[in-house]
Amino acid sequence: MGNIRVAIDGPAGAGKSTVSREVARQLGFVYLDSGAMYRAVAFAAIAKGISLTDAAALTTLANDIDITFDQSVPPRVFLGGTDVTSDIRLPEIGTAASIVSQIPGVRVAMVRQQQHLGARDSIVMEGRDIGTVVFPDAEVKIYLTASVGERARRRAGELVATGKFVALDDIEQQISERDYRDMNRDDSPLRVADGAWELNTDGIVIDDVITMIVSRVRTHS
Ligand code: DC
Repeated sequence: MGNIRVAIDGPAGAGKSTVSREVARQLGFVYLDSGAMYRAVAFAAIAKGISLTDAAALTTLANDIDITFDQSVPPRVFLGGTDVTSDIRLPEIGTAASIVSQIPGVRVAMVRQQQHLGARDSIVMEGRDIGTVVFPDAEVKIYLTASVGERARRRAGELVATGKFVALDDIEQQISERDYRDMNRDDSPLRVADGAWELNTDGIVIDDVITMIVSRVRTHS
């Protein structure tokens, strides 16, 4: 049997990372967080003083950038060899990533690298456009979602766990704005891919979601 590509898309905070990582671990597949790549581009742009709306400079940056991951759980992210794992998780970098990811040249550069990785190994890749653009012929496609309230509560929980306190209302507003931008951009907007299995995780235990996806992959073809 050839490589199996599992595409997991959905809005911010739907539980994609936890689910994708664990599905990959249980199946022995490579895991790739494509959002971390857009976050790394945004982080590098800010560090270099590049405006988040300078399409030409951001496209050059995205083509030149050296993003690598290691095999830890969760994987560490390196930019030109420097560990940026926690820097790219700041909420303002999430917002900046959502802005730079609107630029077609940035997307082309990231999609090319993602497709290259998917050609090598069986992989679980999470993002916004994996089932629609990166691997439209993925063997298994999942669209993971949850209500804005539920997603904001989960994000708040994650931030509290790292010692940060942010008002729930502010997180809800950030998530709604990010959803709007990700779903309404011209290039590769967040959409349910053709043939995707839609899962709303409101009130569902994450372990059950993982089990459902793993058995769907195992019974595939
Ligand atoms: O998954 P995340 O929240 O870390 O992603 C950060 C931003 O990157 C997200 O708001 C939109 C962008 N993104 C994208 O455009 N395409 C992807 N495949 C993954 C992320």
